[in-house]
Amino acid sequence: MGQLKRIKVCDLLKSKDFDRDVQVKGWVRTKRGNKKIAFIALNDGSIIHNIQIVADIANFDENIIKQITTGACLSVTGKFVESMGKGQNAEIHAKEIEVYGSADPETYPLQKKGHTLEFLREIAHLRPRTNTFGAVLRIRHAMAYAIHKYYNDNGFYYLHTPIVTGSDCEGAGEMFRVTTLDSQNPPLTEDGNTDYSKDFFGKETNLTVSGQLEGEVGALALSQIYTFGPTFRAENSNTPRHLAEFWMVEPEMAFYDNDDNMDLAEDFLKYLTQYALDNCYDDLEFLNKMYDNELIERLKSVLASKFERLTYTEAVDILLKSGQKFEFPVGWGLDLQSEHERYLVEKHFKKPVMLTDYPNEIKAFYMKQNDDGKTVRALDVLFPRIGEIIGGSQREEVYEKLYSRIKELEIPEKDLWWYLDTRKFGTAPHSGFGLGFERLILFITGMSNIRDVIPFPRTPQNANF
Ligand code: 4AD
Ligand code: MG
Repeated sequence: MGQLKRIKVCDLLKSKDFDRDVQVKGWVRTKRGNKKIAFIALNDGSIIHNIQIVADIANFDENIIKQITTGACLSVTGKFVESMGKGQNAEIHAKEIEVYGSADPETYPLQKKGHTLEFLREIAHLRPRTNTFGAVLRIRHAMAYAIHKYYNDNGFYYLHTPIVTGSDCEGAGEMFRVTTLDSQNPPLTEDGNTDYSKDFFGKETNLTVSGQLEGEVGALALSQIYTFGPTFRAENSNTPRHLAEFWMVEPEMAFYDNDDNMDLAEDFLKYLTQYALDNCYDDLEFLNKMYDNELIERLKSVLASKFERLTYTEAVDILLKSGQKFEFPVGWGLDLQSEHERYLVEKHFKKPVMLTDYPNEIKAFYMKQNDDGKTVRALDVLFPRIGEIIGGSQREEVYEKLYSRIKELEIPEKDLWWYLDTRKFGTAPHSGFGLGFERLILFITGMSNIRDVIPFPRTPQNANF
């Protein structure tokens, strides 16, 4: 039996090839039984379901049996048989059990079921071993794969944009400084400021808030690119939808106007939703049962609907006429809050909404300016339960217009000369957007807090793991 190769639980549970010897390895979820026989539920994370191990206690060393408690890691060899028992179709009758690692029942934090998500956040190093986080992490993987597949199949090139940057894409100034200077004793310029010319890169640098600006460089050469990487925002937002470190998918397309941009965003989001239903059904069913019994219905309803398209101005009108009491004020020129976005999606239209043409004052410098002189060709996609899931725009491709906006906003030209150059040499109409990966995972899993859809969340006052 020593030559047996380990089989993953997901593959074994698909098999109808009974009455053969198999070997499985994984972590004990539960052990029950009596003095004669033990029933062990073993899970190896390959699938939400466990394989049941049946062990005749007389056949094993007492010391081994004692170590088989919730959380312990085992290697089990035995006969794979069709099961008569309730709740499973197959089980393994154990012949050999090796304990790789025990887990002291007195101190193992996941000894009992039914912990709160808040408690599990404090043991982010162990929570992947729960059913919930197993499901979320498998879905997260499937969505990352589907994103690459979608763009690859549609002729986009994956562009790696830098993590450390010298420019501020969103212009909000909420960036994490990257420096090797001694914070106690930094070199100073003659007028007493920190002398960043002595810093590692010879200038001020930060962690990127978005790969877009470099993405545009790629699109204006390869026509269609996407980036998919970590982005960082030092905003002090303690909400269930904000992280300080999150992943963003950013396609950027030459020769696309904002209508083409919307078509792509809708098709992309529907593709990902369909992919999850087709490939992650077991995990979705579990989450549907445990957390959100409208989850699968909601995913299907998004697939069935044509997203509503309207302008910011029209949306503000609807909100003003709604008679609804909101916590934050509504008015032309004010940014929409997530309560406003969710009202439009969940109450008014009852389907995803794509809003365009926002006031230039509340959007970033690079967006294409409309002829009215007041609005820009922005695009926000709003989703049920999430609010904004995508932000994007057509880009201002006319050098003079972009330049005067940069001057107006007093953005240092020395940081953006290369970006301006793309408008000087062979500029072209182009568009793109950014999908917040964790907001997507919130939507697909039905989880309510963004801290529960990323393995190691970073939020204000929290980078503990
Ligand atoms: O709307 P945002 O700020 O747009 C950009 O960064 C553009 N440069 C994207 C582009 O056009 N290429 O961010 C895009 C998306 C948001 O719609 C949201 O889903 C997500 O990123 N996002 C966050 N997700 C989690 N935590 C945060 N703090 C987020 N900030 C934005
Ligand atoms: Mg936005």
